[in-house]
Amino acid sequence: HKSCVILGIETSCDDTGCAVMNNKGEILGEALNSQTNITVEMGGVMPLLAKELHEKNIENVVNKALEAANMSVNDIDAVAVTTKPGILLSLSVGKNYGKKICREYEKPFIPIHHMQAHTLTARIVQPIEFPFLTLLISGGHSLLAIAQSPVKYLLLGQSFNDAPGEALDKLARRLKLRFVPEFSNCSGGESIERAARKGYPVVDYIVPPLLGYRDCNFSFSGMKQRATQHILKMEEKHDIMGSTLIPDAYDLCASFLHTMTTHLCQRVQRAIKFAELQKLIPSDRRVLVVSGGVACNSYIRQGLEIVCRELDYKLVVPPPKLCTDNGVMIAWNGVEKFRLGIDVISSDKLESIDIE
Ligand code: KG4
Ligand code: ZN
Repeated sequence: HKSCVILGIETSCDDTGCAVMNNKGEILGEALNSQTNITVEMGGVMPLLAKELHEKNIENVVNKALEAANMSVNDIDAVAVTTKPGILLSLSVGKNYGKKICREYEKPFIPIHHMQAHTLTARIVQPIEFPFLTLLISGGHSLLAIAQSPVKYLLLGQSFNDAPGEALDKLARRLKLRFVPEFSNCSGGESIERAARKGYPVVDYIVPPLLGYRDCNFSFSGMKQRATQHILKMEEKHDIMGSTLIPDAYDLCASFLHTMTTHLCQRVQRAIKFAELQKLIPSDRRVLVVSGGVACNSYIRQGLEIVCRELDYKLVVPPPKLCTDNGVMIAWNGVEKFRLGIDVISSDKLESIDIE
């Protein structure tokens, strides 16, 4: 493999991330500016505000990562930037800044697909051969795919409606968990995970969806609606207003998380069976890579661990810091593409190509 040093830039959602990595998977420098606090307070990502914050922070974040690596842009081989999918206004900040430094220093630009970067992160930690099965669960996506190469994916299923992280964030907000001091600095998903540990999954009409559907798609809006109905009923019954929680808030979190876990596990189980029937994964490559912000959740990890053990698969989940959005995953995907010579756009072609 060609040796290289890549600078990665991520601005697809509400985190401004940057990292410098080499082809051995060593993180030479990294920096991250998270907007999670603002997002939780506003009840979701506000595209215009997110763009403004990315613009305010990007130069500083990139410089911090370079400083930590003790390098300048002159020392790197290429700049990798998330170009899709995500919030267009947010993406544009990273794209424009990336292009700017590529032109200035005459470095190649490598466009990166955010979800592919989430999956490939697992290959930093350990060598995983293609093809492998992957489950990506984040604030914007839910999908099951077979990764056949760094750039080739066979989609097995995706969400019909909400993403799991989105459903968790909305439930956390509706439950007013951010007013509980110990959760005040957490993302919605993290606050539900911690609240669930204090309760029991006894709210039994929040049930896993699509059980009769013989595919690998997901749905998270039904369980969200049922949870909302439950909250409304309890608020009326106990005459609750303001920032007070309903009495069984923690049980509701436990029930919701349990149902979400069951649904994810059931879909993964179908995907494994399908891959087996279609001979899509060789018998010596039985690996499931799970990534994206929701993969930080240890209850969900434990559920998937059971499915994998039963079906003789190896479960690989990157450490939590690498599951949520960051610059490292983009830099690493840049390394993977640079060594293969795929999507490496030289700086003099940047004007003529409409980068997707
Ligand atoms: O991958 P990510 O950082 O951004 C997107 O690409 O969407 O994922 C963010 C999502 C948020 O919805 C957040 O609530 C969720 O990941 N999340 C969690 C946990 N930590 C973050 N969900 C469940 N359990 C967690 N511990
Ligand atoms: Zn993400």
